[in-house]
Amino acid sequence: MRFPVKSSWIDRLVKRQPQRYLHAVNAVNLSIAAGKTMALVGESGCGKSTVARCAAGLYTPSSGAVIFRGKNMTDIAAKSLPERREVQMIFQDPYASLNPRWRIGRSIADPIRTLGLEKNGRVIRDMVAELLTTVGLSPADAEKFPHEFSGGQRQRVAIARALSSRPSFIICDEPTSALDVSVQAQILNKMKDLQDQFGLTYLFISHDLGVVDHMSDVIGVMYLGNLVEVADRETLFEKPMHPYTRLLLGAVPRVSVGETELQPPLGELPNPMNPPSGCAFRTRCPFATSTCAESKPEMRRIGETQVACHRAEDIN
Ligand SMILES: Nc1ncnc2c1ncn2[C@@H]1O[C@H](COP(=O)(O)OP(=O)(O)OP(=O)(O)O)[C@@H](O)[C@H]1O
Ligand SMILES: [Mg+2]
Repeated sequence: MRFPVKSSWIDRLVKRQPQRYLHAVNAVNLSIAAGKTMALVGESGCGKSTVARCAAGLYTPSSGAVIFRGKNMTDIAAKSLPERREVQMIFQDPYASLNPRWRIGRSIADPIRTLGLEKNGRVIRDMVAELLTTVGLSPADAEKFPHEFSGGQRQRVAIARALSSRPSFIICDEPTSALDVSVQAQILNKMKDLQDQFGLTYLFISHDLGVVDHMSDVIGVMYLGNLVEVADRETLFEKPMHPYTRLLLGAVPRVSVGETELQPPLGELPNPMNPPSGCAFRTRCPFATSTCAESKPEMRRIGETQVACHRAEDIN
């Protein structure tokens, strides 16, 4: 997914500079099994939300494709195919999905109405009441406005809204990052219960490794628009292979690699407009060699893990 970079009219017309692009997401190849949770982690700006928006059909990828049940997500979104109702998204800030001027009952019913799932007003009201109960709120809350809720309650409303079209795949972009730890735990446990109850599949985005450990079956680690490592949760936490994954985990417990003690201070994330040649991580990698500057490492399987690192074997 690339975005055109706005340039001044002087650059465009006088200096005749070509349109420049920011490659927010470059090499991301992943698949999510039905009923499972895949988590995406990585530091701010690495492209997690962009992947989420592509997956939800909110962005059309500049190249490549998102396939949901054998159909292209872009077609599903553009032509409002029946699969549209099956994919929903929960945002970090519930205000992004709740109209502040609507009573929340109306917001929750909105997907049901716009997707034409039910027309009878009374049935819709009952559906909304049931959804509110499901997420731990009361049916009477349907009459309230978003500002009348706490942050945690508002995120529950957003979850109820996402569930209203009876989706099978929910993309959660930092759904609990704005909440305190205890409310966060309640919401995450609720989301797990809902997963068991409805057989939901989650793409779960978070920069909090504790949350990811709690929620996910499979974890993908992103760095500067690239997926650098994919493994199931136990494998990733026990045997992280990519130097970046180790440094991420090293921020929580200490990871020592053979004789080398990794240095936690990583320095700045490179400018995504001007990424390093070869491996994007090499400028911050304690193991980088000249090969890393020359060629971009492809994702390959080593044991249970998929990893994009030239030196994965040497350092593990
Ligand atoms: N609509 C857009 N137009 C232009 N650039 C964008 C757009 N959306 C994202 N970007 C750029 O793409 C890169 C990835 O952004 P993205 O929001 O996907 O990161 P993120 O991993 O979700 O970060 P965070 O953890 O802070 O939410 C950033 O450099 C960002 O500035
Ligand atoms: Mg984001």
